[in-house]
Amino acid sequence: MIDDDILTFLRKSIAKNEAEAQKILAEERQKRLDKLLSDSGLGKKFRKRTFSTFKVTKDNHVALTAAQNFINEFPNGKGLLLTGPVGTGKTHIAAAIANELIKQFYTVIFRNVVDIISLIVSTYHQSEKTILEIINTFTKADLLIIDDLGKEKMTEHTSTVLYQIINKIYEDEKPIIITTNFTSEKLEQNLGERGNAIVSRITEMCRPIVLSGRDWRLKNASS
Ligand SMILES: Nc1ncnc2c1ncn2[C@@H]1O[C@H](COP(=O)(O)OP(=O)(O)OP(=O)(O)O)[C@@H](O)[C@H]1O
Ligand SMILES: [Mg+2]
Repeated sequence: MIDDDILTFLRKSIAKNEAEAQKILAEERQKRLDKLLSDSGLGKKFRKRTFSTFKVTKDNHVALTAAQNFINEFPNGKGLLLTGPVGTGKTHIAAAIANELIKQFYTVIFRNVVDIISLIVSTYHQSEKTILEIINTFTKADLLIIDDLGKEKMTEHTSTVLYQIINKIYEDEKPIIITTNFTSEKLEQNLGERGNAIVSRITEMCRPIVLSGRDWRLKNASS
């Protein structure tokens, strides 16, 4: 029979250890989230673009529902091709999805196409191994988000490597989110040499979602 003093002592020690273990777990969890965020490439500004700061209107509610469905089905389900004019919320929605999935401990790579192209340009005349490393950088996460596709004209080299990135996602059956201001025809033109093959794969992998309405940048500036 254990006497009462010993029992009280044991209970207190267990409670204390449990509290310490919970604290260590919470710290580890936060560290992992911070690392996932910094690896994702989501800048400080984009970390504030969440669903809670997204105002719903008749012009964007379909996109919002599609984004929420995408998260619920993740990592299954189709990707998203978010299109529409300047300032209608395409990047905001894409960043909100990234923030939400990172909170669920998924790995996400979020990059503007201009940054992707700069990296690809740096591989020009480099070994096949360097190019494969770049392709791996963009395809290893659970989700790739390419912001502003078509914004920059492509050379034969950048178009070919971008094709290899998209094709790897396609072959691995991984999800992808693309934002763009352009129609498919214009995208094809802007993406150069392999434009046709890139747009064809994106069309198969993604659900097209159109955002419309006024430019939120102008709306926010005048309010
Ligand atoms: N529904 C919304 N509620 C609140 N703020 C919004 C909403 N949609 C967009 N914004 C804000 O308006 C600004 C422009 O939005 P965003 O960058 O997502 O536009 P975009 O469609 O990606 O434009 P672009 O084609 O120029 O890249 C951002 O500051 C964003 O947070
Ligand atoms: Mg944008």
